[in-house]
Amino acid sequence: MAEFHSKIKTIEWVDNYSKMVDQTVLPYEFKYVNITSGQGMFDAIKTMIVRGAPAIGVAGAHGVVLYAQELAAQSLSREDFVRNLLVKADYMASSRPTAVNLMWAVAKQKDIIKNSTSDIEGIVDELKQNAIKLENEDIEINKKIGDFGAEVVPNGATILTHCNAGALATVGYGTALGVVRSAFANDPTIQVFADETRPRQQGARITTFELTMDGIPTTLITDGMCSYFMKKGMIDMVVVGADRIAANGDAANKIGTYTVAIAAKYHNVPFYIAAPLSTIDTSIKTGDEIVIEERSREEVTHINGKTICAEGVNIINPGFDVTPHELIAGIITEKGILRPDYNKSIAEAFKK
Ligand code: MRU
Repeated sequence: MAEFHSKIKTIEWVDNYSKMVDQTVLPYEFKYVNITSGQGMFDAIKTMIVRGAPAIGVAGAHGVVLYAQELAAQSLSREDFVRNLLVKADYMASSRPTAVNLMWAVAKQKDIIKNSTSDIEGIVDELKQNAIKLENEDIEINKKIGDFGAEVVPNGATILTHCNAGALATVGYGTALGVVRSAFANDPTIQVFADETRPRQQGARITTFELTMDGIPTTLITDGMCSYFMKKGMIDMVVVGADRIAANGDAANKIGTYTVAIAAKYHNVPFYIAAPLSTIDTSIKTGDEIVIEERSREEVTHINGKTICAEGVNIINPGFDVTPHELIAGIITEKGILRPDYNKSIAEAFKK
């Protein structure tokens, strides 16, 4: 099993390329890959070498810098450089459809491309500086989320989480697992139950990996087990991340999250979302407007390269589901914990 420290950066801009942890080989191998081209970054996001909403936001920002470097080497006029780069930025934003952090970060880069008064070299530099700023801010934001969230973790709590909203889904520290880390720092008697998270098993492969490396007691369960343990009174709260949150608080996260939220409501277990404000898409009123990524049939038909079902069976593989806001006890952000009525508390948070 590979070695990991939560203090490492999952993704980082180095000189003129992007360095990231290759999440497709975890937990067997812990290795970095260098992404040196715009197309390379598009592919890294699409194939989930980098994954998790905040991490792919930063990856998208890096991807725009990579395209900017490539275009800057082509002796284009400034006007053609800007026009082509805006097209490439839109392409980068289309690499995955659900996590709004990707579109958010690319939009920040597009603002620079459109509004800069610098020459081509200056624009490339501004894009690079902005990408590094987004990286650093992500860690600071996660620490704030962690500290706010820790306030609602009961002493000695068992916290259930789904998928991976940890250091490896962000630049570092994590959102849902940031809450766990901050709570654990105050109270080493807390523990985590991690859902396996089929089909790609981010809970098993990534969450258990990073939590055990940090010495946080973690129990892996399969997705269907959560209500069993809630009924037994063994789960005190649920904290998960999000890929996109609508203005009314409906929250898209990894497929299976909705089931956990329903089970939590039934058993009176508080269900929290932990996410930065960059995950909130106030341009959409409800979760019905969130585009849900459809992923490949192989993710369902195969485990570790081996088929687990009858050949030719029908497969549907939505990557995310939307938890309705009524099931969410609070949305833990860097501005504090937002409570229902989310239309109001979300709008207020953006004014702070
Ligand atoms: O498909 P993935 O692995 O990118 O999905 C990740 C999730 O659903 C996470 O829970 C979400 O992005 C929040 S990460 C802080």
